[in-house]
Amino acid sequence: MNAVSSFPYLPTASTTPLGMEVLRGLTARTKRLSPWLFYDERGSVLFEAITELPEYYLTRTEREIFAEHGDAILGAAGDSAQAILELGAGTAAKTDLLLAAAVRHRGEVAYYPIDIASSALDQARSRIAREMPQVSVQPIVSDYTRSLGELPGSERSRLVLYIGSSIGNFEPQAAAALLRRLRRQLAAGDRLLLGVDHVKDRTTLVRAYNDGAGVTAEFNRNVLSRINAELGGSFRPRLFRHRAVWNDRESRIEMHLESLVAQEVTIAALDLTVRFRRGESIHTENSYKFTAEAVKALLARGGFAPRQHWTDARSWFGVYLAEAV
Ligand SMILES: C[S@@+](CC[C@H](N)C(=O)[O-])C[C@H]1O[C@@H](n2cnc3c(N)ncnc32)[C@H](O)[C@@H]1O
Repeated sequence: MNAVSSFPYLPTASTTPLGMEVLRGLTARTKRLSPWLFYDERGSVLFEAITELPEYYLTRTEREIFAEHGDAILGAAGDSAQAILELGAGTAAKTDLLLAAAVRHRGEVAYYPIDIASSALDQARSRIAREMPQVSVQPIVSDYTRSLGELPGSERSRLVLYIGSSIGNFEPQAAAALLRRLRRQLAAGDRLLLGVDHVKDRTTLVRAYNDGAGVTAEFNRNVLSRINAELGGSFRPRLFRHRAVWNDRESRIEMHLESLVAQEVTIAALDLTVRFRRGESIHTENSYKFTAEAVKALLARGGFAPRQHWTDARSWFGVYLAEAV
């Protein structure tokens, strides 16, 4: 197929991060797409809707922990909270609770939310500027898996927030490598606050990623619409079924998009035709679930010493404070 010239897409799309990821993922023997591809503008809105779903306990539970222990967390972070950085901040809705605690502790706070989704960061900036004038917000649109070398605020001690269970999207080796890269950018004594989802019963886990209203299914299929819009794809999202499964051996929820029929999809900007067998799936996300021991081991592999952690009454979610050592 040579359809590039008939579409208004750059012929160099295969060298953009999106193009490279789609090319690599859909030509692999087991098709896969990275979860960061979910977060275009519509994906960010759908994620916000997910956080409100009755089945999606993660955001609600972490927010409860921040509401109850925000002051203790900021107290334990001590001097490190002169500058607060957040990886994958999104709209930073529940971060408000930590920022408010930081203002109570320090009076003024510099906050650097980092995200690939500029629309989500815009929302965060205008809300925080309006509601918390003591917080100076400096959003950074960036992919933290590529550009951790440019972390701001190095003239002060820093507290890095990596919450919302986002570390769970990485396979164990990659998660440890990401923490090591982060550690190299920090000074000894800087802190990391890591929010992770704990292992729990399978039904609760699967329902959180397969809600009754079908919002997570829309979120998952949105990646196909994004490829259509940005790379001239011919995906018909309705011909893919959303599937969430618990993989006990790997301790993770997997999200897949399963082709309902044998079909061919073209992606003009990549000059690519992708064939699907009926039942073949694209693996779009992993969400690893941790025990407290596994989190501490991961932090240690990343170069951080676990100091303290907080959890909810059911111990469904954990927030771990660790020190760069
Ligand atoms: C699951 S949401 C979590 C948002 C928020 N931290 C929370 O706890 O609700 C993941 C966020 O990370 C962002 N993200 C995903 N991969 C990223 C990457 N490689 N670099 C920067 N941001 C990323 C997404 O745009 C999204 O806003």
